[in-house]
Formats: sequence, C-alpha cells, structure tokens
Amino acid sequence: MADQAFVTLATNDNYAKGAMVLGKSLRNHKTSKKLVVLIGPHVSEPSRAVLGRIYDEVRLVDVLDSGDTAHLAMMKRPDLGVTFTKLNCWTLTHYSKCVFMDADTLVVSNIDELFDREELSAAPDPGWPDCFNSGVFVFRPSNETYGKLLQHCTEHGSFDGGDQGVLNSFFSDWATADIRKHLPFIYNMSSIAIYTYLPAFKQYGANAKVVHFLGKTKPWSYMYDPKLKVMRGDVQEAATHPGFLLEWWTLYSSCVVPMLHQEYGDQPFHSGCEDLPPQSEHAPPSISSAERKQRWEQGQADYMGIDSFDSIEKKLAVFLK
Ligand code: UDP
Ligand code: GLC
Ligand code: MN
Repeated sequence: MADQAFVTLATNDNYAKGAMVLGKSLRNHKTSKKLVVLIGPHVSEPSRAVLGRIYDEVRLVDVLDSGDTAHLAMMKRPDLGVTFTKLNCWTLTHYSKCVFMDADTLVVSNIDELFDREELSAAPDPGWPDCFNSGVFVFRPSNETYGKLLQHCTEHGSFDGGDQGVLNSFFSDWATADIRKHLPFIYNMSSIAIYTYLPAFKQYGANAKVVHFLGKTKPWSYMYDPKLKVMRGDVQEAATHPGFLLEWWTLYSSCVVPMLHQEYGDQPFHSGCEDLPPQSEHAPPSISSAERKQRWEQGQADYMGIDSFDSIEKKLAVFLK
C-alpha cells in the first residue's frame, strides 16, 4: 500500500546502523508497506547513502530536544532528550497510516497486520504496564495532531524527559479506553522480559515478531567476529538474549556492512565487525544464558565472577534505568 509506511528515526550514525538493520529485517519479511527513515543533520553522507538503498524515503528533520536533564537523569539516559524528534513522524501527511518503530528494534516476522489497528495502538511498557512503550506504535500523520503534540510539550513537558512521557500523557486514555489499542507484547518484546518473567518468555517468546533492544546497551555497543560468529564486549549483558543479538549481528554483518564499505570507500569507519584477537585468559568466559541458568539452578553460581553481587547490582541498575 503506497499510503502506508513504517517509520523510524536516527539522529546519528550509531542509531543509523540500527535503522539499516531494521529496514533490512522489514524487507526480508516481505513488507508491502513503504519504509521511511527520519534523520538528523549529524548523520554522515555514507550512512545516508546506505539508508537510501534500504528505505523508500530518507527525510531530514529538525532535531527536537526536550533539554529536560532532571527527568532524563531519573532514567539514567541523558541521551534521550532528542527522542522528541520522533514527534516529527506526525508530519508525514502523504501517508494515511504509519507504524513507528525505534531504530533499536528488529523484525523477526511479517507485521503488516499492524496497519489494521488505529491510532494510537502500542504495547504495554514492561516497566510500567499502564503506560505504552513508544518503541512501536500505530499512528495517523496529521499536522493538527503534530501541532497539538508540540503545544502539549510546551505546556506540560514530559514526565520522563523523552517522547514516551509526552505521548502517554497526550494519549492518556490508552490504558482504559479500547483494548484493541493494546498491541500484544510480541510486537514489542524487550529483552527485559526474559529477566523479569522467564516462564512467560518461555511460553510466548518464540512467537515474538518484534524484538526491542531497549536500554543503554544497544546491539551496536558490542563487537562481533563474523568468522567465529561470536560477540565481544560486556558478555554478561549479551548472555541475556544471545539469540536475538546474534540475529541482529548476522543481518548487520552480512547485509549492512558490505554496503557501508562501499559507501565509505577509503574513508575509515568503525563497523564493529572485526577479526578479534582471542579473548584474554582474564576475561570472563562467554557462556550461553541457558548454560548460565542451568549452572545457577544447580547451585553452581559464579559468585566471584559473572554472578557476583556487583554484577547483579549493575544489571538491576541497567534495567531499572
Ligand atoms: N534516537 C536517536 N538518537 C539518539 C537517541 C535516540 O535517533 O541519540 C531514536 C532512535 O530511533 C531510538 C529512539 O530514538 O531507537 C529511542 O531511543 P532508545 O531506543 O535509545 O530508547 P530505549 O528504547 O532504550 O528507551
Ligand atoms: C522508552 C522507549 C523509547 C523512548 C524513551 C524516551 O523507554 O523505549 O522508545 O524514546 O523511553 O521516552
Ligand atoms: Mn528503543
């Protein structure tokens, strides 16, 4: 359908990598919708060129920043003020209906059926289920709504300093008005679910259609060895959802990196995909989350290493934001 589109946002080259993988994943799952990426002026020319090869429309927008350091500090995400830029998606009035998706999401199955839903449909936020998570939502572009949203920002600000706070107070009856506007969690499944409700993840996780790498550490924060097909970085983090992360990296290294190499030519750039030196003896061994869980359940927790109190505290801090 020419008047329906998936929309994402990238204000810098890192999030642009996410947008490239997301776009590729939508194409691989044969979406019939248009693909639009909103970019900020800091996205480099080579990144724009790669985005242009994946997306139907690469649209430069003004970066809006809440500048609300106090609320952002509560989430420990000072970087998220620029997510106000997301609101620009309402200006895409050449489409009648759109689905916004964060650049840190990955589509693992066709989701075109989302266009049967109405504005504003979204899945519950895993941290506060009476709020929706603004990483995936169905909306209708409208200059009138855009104007009202900006006015709402000016008058009320945002309770989290980012777009999610504004959108939840603007579409404030989401929690109660119409259950059809509650998207099933499989359309915005964050890795946090694996931690907080493992039995439900085991029951329903295999049906996930969209994975959301919510939180400070993004797939592109790691490094990847394409030959050995292993990730490096804070392996503890990676061990929580290795399957989906690997899926992201497989797509990125096989489809996106070759395009980036073509567009960057001789200019240096950091793909994150390297032949990595063997991991040092002192680094924690990389084990799968299943293995780690099994060891934990057998009473073989690695109290001095990955299961130390410090690590658990660090993990909780990340998820509690
Ligand atoms: N974003 C961006 N540049 C930034 C921060 C965020 O373009 O510096 C966009 C990007 O689409 C991203 C979304 O805003 O996916 C929301 O931010 P993020 O995914 O980091 O928030 P989280 O889901 O982790 O709360
Ligand atoms: C959330 C959402 C993200 C949003 C951010 C700021 O955690 O996942 O999409 O941009 O909060 O409001
Ligand atoms: Mn996100």
